[in-house]
Amino acid sequence: MTSPRVIVGSDHAGYDLKENLKEYLVSKGFRVEDVGPDTKDSVDYPDYAEAVASRVAGGQGDLGVLVCGTGIGMCITANKVPGIRAAILYSEFAARYARMHNDANVVIFGGRTMTPEEARKYLDVFLQEEFEGGRHRRRLEKIKRLEERNRGNCEGGKDVVPQKG
Ligand code: RB5
Repeated sequence: MTSPRVIVGSDHAGYDLKENLKEYLVSKGFRVEDVGPDTKDSVDYPDYAEAVASRVAGGQGDLGVLVCGTGIGMCITANKVPGIRAAILYSEFAARYARMHNDANVVIFGGRTMTPEEARKYLDVFLQEEFEGGRHRRRLEKIKRLEERNRGNCEGGKDVVPQKG
């Protein structure tokens, strides 16, 4: 059996943790593709979130791993890509349920909010669990249908009128 493919990316605030988790994944036998960045120079997190999320949604990776300062910007952006279920793994409990109930396909960490040891632990917990299916599959199907209903509405923000007051 071939090992799962993991696509990793970060911004400058997540760079060190991204490198740390990449090394950890390689040591565990995963095939890892790093979309960058290659230095700690300041970059914009949406560019790397999109690069990872679009590869996972397109089937080039089995799992995405993203790191920014808090994880929040990466999470907001990755979840804009249809088919992506991105979750911040901020505790062992969250990591367990992100797999069991949400079947997350992109996992996110905060380079400024957790230690590398914590992030490795959360990643381990996530990887050891399995999706429970059943009623949780029905809920994921609802998310998929919501994406389908909104696909035409969001292009270029054409239909979005800012509210006053
Ligand atoms: C970068 O300074 C920081 O805003 C970013 O890493 C992230 O925390 C955004 O959500």
